[in-house]
Amino acid sequence: MKHIHSYYSPNNLYNNIVEGLNNLGKDLSKITPDDLQPVDEFHIRGDTATKELIKLANFTPDMHILDLGCGVGGSTRRLSHETGCHVTGIDLSDEYIDTAERLTQLLNMQGRVKFQACSALDLPFDDNVFDGAWSIQMNMNVEDKLGWLKEMYRVLKPGARAVLYEVCGTKNTPLYFPVPWAQDSSMNFLIPQEAFHDVMTSVGFKIEEWNDKTDLAQNAFARMKEPKGVPVLPELGLHMLIGNDFKTKSYNMRRNLDDERISLIETLVMK
Ligand SMILES: C[S@@+](CC[C@H](N)C(=O)[O-])C[C@H]1O[C@@H](n2cnc3c(N)ncnc32)[C@H](O)[C@@H]1O
Repeated sequence: MKHIHSYYSPNNLYNNIVEGLNNLGKDLSKITPDDLQPVDEFHIRGDTATKELIKLANFTPDMHILDLGCGVGGSTRRLSHETGCHVTGIDLSDEYIDTAERLTQLLNMQGRVKFQACSALDLPFDDNVFDGAWSIQMNMNVEDKLGWLKEMYRVLKPGARAVLYEVCGTKNTPLYFPVPWAQDSSMNFLIPQEAFHDVMTSVGFKIEEWNDKTDLAQNAFARMKEPKGVPVLPELGLHMLIGNDFKTKSYNMRRNLDDERISLIETLVMK
């Protein structure tokens, strides 16, 4: 897990984001979730997907939701912003959590959105405390999927629902590396959708919805080309989270999707 932690540990992340916002001419006292979207929604189809997940989850303002593998907290904040619910985000990366907390203060959302650095496999919460959970594209880095999902199940109240939006594998292997979650195969733990479905049900979750979103992922990456020369990168972007080879990683996403080596699902499950 150490190499996964260091992969998601860029230096000076918050200051780099602030510098990017300044270079774009943004007034820091008037920053909105949309201003941060290019850098804080680190998953396929960004805020468009987050808004779909918010609809699917149907969480209400009285609820306290756990976001597992929250990154720098873009979808954590958007969930709270759009529904009014309290959200606690956890992530393995101390640098991401520090940035998540400071971006949340910048948006003045710290009353309803909290963060904690820890592993999703060892949650520092009591049993049956959360009204809901969501997890957006973390499973790719988690080898012990049973342990992770058992932890998620444990902290949910009976009858609570969870939404997951996850990259899965297929029968076609190996992947083209690097990809956005892994520099090489040692960090990649994809399993086919059917196997992921089986782990969910073996933990005790009842599957309410299981939607294959692979075609939308294919459309999202269809125009990615093999990068040549020194990459031209935007002021604010996901390269700040995972390095300047971001365009190569995006191009490999296209190749993996075109060759049907990876798939994408969203699911709503119930404890
Ligand atoms: C692709 S990013 C997604 C981040 C966020 N959910 C989003 O959509 O913006 C994957 C995240 O999972 C986190 N992660 C990986 N393994 C983890 C674990 N065992 N426990 C907690 N977080 C983990 C990484 O640190 C990273 O922030």
